Amino acid sequence: MMNTKLNATIICTFLLLAVSVGCQGSKDRDVKPVTEEPPAEDVSLQKNLPFKFGAAISPGLMKSRAAYRDVVTKEFNSITTENAMKMSFIHPSANTYNWADADYLVDFAAQNGKRLHGHTLNWYKNVPAWVASFQGDSTAWEALLKTHIQTIVSRYKGRVASWDVVNEAFEENGKYRNSIWIQKLGEDYIARCFQYAHEADPQALLFYNDYGHEYGPTKRTAILNLVTGLKNRGIPIHGIGMQMHTRVNRSDADLAKAIETAAATGLLVHISELDIAVNPDNDKNMVWTAALASQQALKYKSIVKAYNAIPKAQQFGITTWNVSDADSWIPGQYDRPDWPLPFDANYERKPAYQGILDGVK
Ligand code: G3I
Repeated sequence: MMNTKLNATIICTFLLLAVSVGCQGSKDRDVKPVTEEPPAEDVSLQKNLPFKFGAAISPGLMKSRAAYRDVVTKEFNSITTENAMKMSFIHPSANTYNWADADYLVDFAAQNGKRLHGHTLNWYKNVPAWVASFQGDSTAWEALLKTHIQTIVSRYKGRVASWDVVNEAFEENGKYRNSIWIQKLGEDYIARCFQYAHEADPQALLFYNDYGHEYGPTKRTAILNLVTGLKNRGIPIHGIGMQMHTRVNRSDADLAKAIETAAATGLLVHISELDIAVNPDNDKNMVWTAALASQQALKYKSIVKAYNAIPKAQQFGITTWNVSDADSWIPGQYDRPDWPLPFDANYERKPAYQGILDGVK
């Protein structure tokens, strides 16, 4: 140790005294590792990454906030509907479909050459009141589910490339959630959701979407068993959505394990709702610092690096949940300050943005 330190001191002193100009040059290269890349204005996530990169989008913000729309247009080549296709929004009463917001996003995607990923055909949340109070036998419930899925998928056939078919069917302990769908239709409703969606658009790529793969094996194993079981039965499932609502202090090993085990299924892998909270302990007085920014940038880099290492053919892409710290769902949901996204509240790029780009170097 002593010898190593001594050697380093001698070498440094020698370099400083004898070749100070050369030393300065190498220091500059360390500080600016991307000097040979195109100017920042020419860089974008959609151009500079080898897989698709997108965000969950709100039609309201697209219309009301120019900076939001500009970032979406410039940076992303994939769009997920954040809320517009959830059951309570798109199908608010038995015979009413509210297409306006979903149409807006599907049209925007088509006009701007972006992939549209539909979220979500089935969920235990956002169940409209008319469904919660629906009276009927299992045949009637089956018809309700099938009609809902097929009406939506058929409308967007050929324009929505892919769907989160079923979202969050598991509890943290790996047991099925006691959702209204399980209660009325039993566990195999999941398989039938996939079949109904596939019948309505055989070209669409169909995903099972959930969170917590990075928490550990309990929930992850349940999810992987479900998707593998569906695949082995010939149910039309094409991918796993791993939400990855994560935090700066989640270990790189846990994140990499989640990505690797999902890829081991052979299915497409979508990191579907990525954000990296810096204030997971709900400190109401937390302030944003350069240290937090660089920790977060490293975590984004680590996730992108692990994702970039899975087979190319399985890389469906990465989607952040919302665009900037100004429109993230996290501060409102948890009543705390937080800065989870790669763009700041002024829609400027944060160090996390560079972290994402560095993840594929
Ligand atoms: O649009 C109404 C508005 O008219 C009303 O005045 C206001 C009053 O509360 O509510 C507005 O709706 C809210 C909606 O977001 C749009 O902002 C809902 O209350 C609110 O519950 C809803 O939250 C969404 C949440 O899912 C529940 O659907 C979040 O925006 C959305 O980011 C979040 O997304 C989920 C994914 O779908 C699944 N994975 C987790 C992720 C984060 O929770």
